[in-house]
Amino acid sequence: MRRKISENVSWVGYIDWELKKFHGEEYSVMNGSSQNAYLIEEEKTVLVDTVWAPHRFEFIENLKSEIDLNKIDYIIVNHGEVDHSGALRDLLKEIPDTPLYCTANCVKSLEGQYGKLDWNFNVVKTGDRLDIGNGKELIFVEMRMLHWPDSMATYMTGNNLLFSMDAFGQHFAAEELFNDLVDEELMHKEAMKYFANIIHPFAPFVTRKLKEIEGMNLDIKMIAPSHGAIWRDNPMQIVEKYKEWAEGYKEDRIVIAYDTMWEGTMEIANKIAYEINKRSPETIVKSFNIAKYDKNDIMTEVFRSKAILVGSPTEVNDVLSSVAEWLHFLKSLKFKNKKAAAFGTYGWSGESVKIIQERLKEAGFDVIDEFVKVNWRMNEDDKVQVEKMVDALLKEL
Ligand code: FEO
Repeated sequence: MRRKISENVSWVGYIDWELKKFHGEEYSVMNGSSQNAYLIEEEKTVLVDTVWAPHRFEFIENLKSEIDLNKIDYIIVNHGEVDHSGALRDLLKEIPDTPLYCTANCVKSLEGQYGKLDWNFNVVKTGDRLDIGNGKELIFVEMRMLHWPDSMATYMTGNNLLFSMDAFGQHFAAEELFNDLVDEELMHKEAMKYFANIIHPFAPFVTRKLKEIEGMNLDIKMIAPSHGAIWRDNPMQIVEKYKEWAEGYKEDRIVIAYDTMWEGTMEIANKIAYEINKRSPETIVKSFNIAKYDKNDIMTEVFRSKAILVGSPTEVNDVLSSVAEWLHFLKSLKFKNKKAAAFGTYGWSGESVKIIQERLKEAGFDVIDEFVKVNWRMNEDDKVQVEKMVDALLKEL
C-alpha cells in the first residue's frame, strides 16, 4: 500500500501500534508510532529511508506490490539508526548495486552496526544535489547531531518538500498522515515530548542548523519527518516551535517531582503546591511521584516549566534510587534557564536535600539557597520553612 502525499511522492512506511518503548526502555510510546519511508517516482525512482528491522519483510513485500524493485534508481539514507535503516540489508540483497546517498558519518554508523558493507555508497554533503528528472532535484542538508552525527535531511525541489528525518517528528501513530487531519493537540504534545526527551540535549545544534537552513532559502511547503504525522498545513509552525524550544524555553509552570517512603516527603510536596497556588494562582503547578509516573512525561513538563522542586527522603545516607535515576536522566537532557529547589525528610543522618541540590546544579539548574529539610514529619516550624522557600523561589522567577 502506498499513500500519496505530494505529486509523485508516496508514503510507504510502517505504522506501529505495537511499540510501547523506544530506544530500549528509554522512551515511552503512548499513542503508537511510525517509521516513515517515502517513494519518489519522477523520471528517477527514489526510495527515501526504510523501516525498523522487525518490519523489514512486510516493508519489502509492500514495496514489491507497488513497484518492481529494479526500478529503484537511488536510495536516500537520511540516518543510520536501526528504526530507519533496518530493512536495508534485505532490500539490498534484491537490488545490490542500487546507489545509496548518505553522509560520511552514515557510512560509519551503518558499517558499525551491520559490519563492513560493499554497498554502493555515494557520500553527500550539505548543498549537494541529485537530479531526479522532470526538472526536479534532491538537495541534501547535513543535520549533524540532530540527533546523530550521521543525520541528514533531503529537500525535493518542485514539490518544496523537506524529508526532515527525526527532526520535527513525533512518536505518534498518525493513520490520517497529515497534521490537519490528526488530533492536532495530541500531535503537538507528542512533538514536544519528542523534542524535550530526544532532541533537547542537542538544542544548540538546532539553533545553528535552523539558521543555516534559513540561509539556504529553501521554500518549504511540506515537512515529512521519519516518525508521526506530516506537516502539510502551515509546516513552518513546527520550525518556529523548534526555534523557540531550543532557546531556554519555559512557560508559567512549576513542577514538583518527588518520591516518598512513608508519605512524609509527599506531605511537603503537597504543602509546596498549596503555597504556590495561594501566592500565584495563574501558575500551573504539577506534582509527580517520580516512581509512579512516566519519566518522559514528567520531563516534558519540566521542559515547559520555569522551576522545579525535587524531593526525597534520606535512605542510607542518600536519596531514594528512583530519585537518583531520575536526576541522572534530568542531567542528560541539558535543560537551561530554570530555577530549582530541594526538599526532603530524614530520621537521623539527613543527606538527601544536599545531594539533590548538588545534582540539580550539575544538571544546569539555578538552585536557590532556601530548602526544606524535615526531621520525621512536618511540624509548624517546617511549614513556615516551606512558605519561606516558596516565597524565595517565586521572587526569583
Ligand atoms: Fe528515528 Fe534517530 O531514529
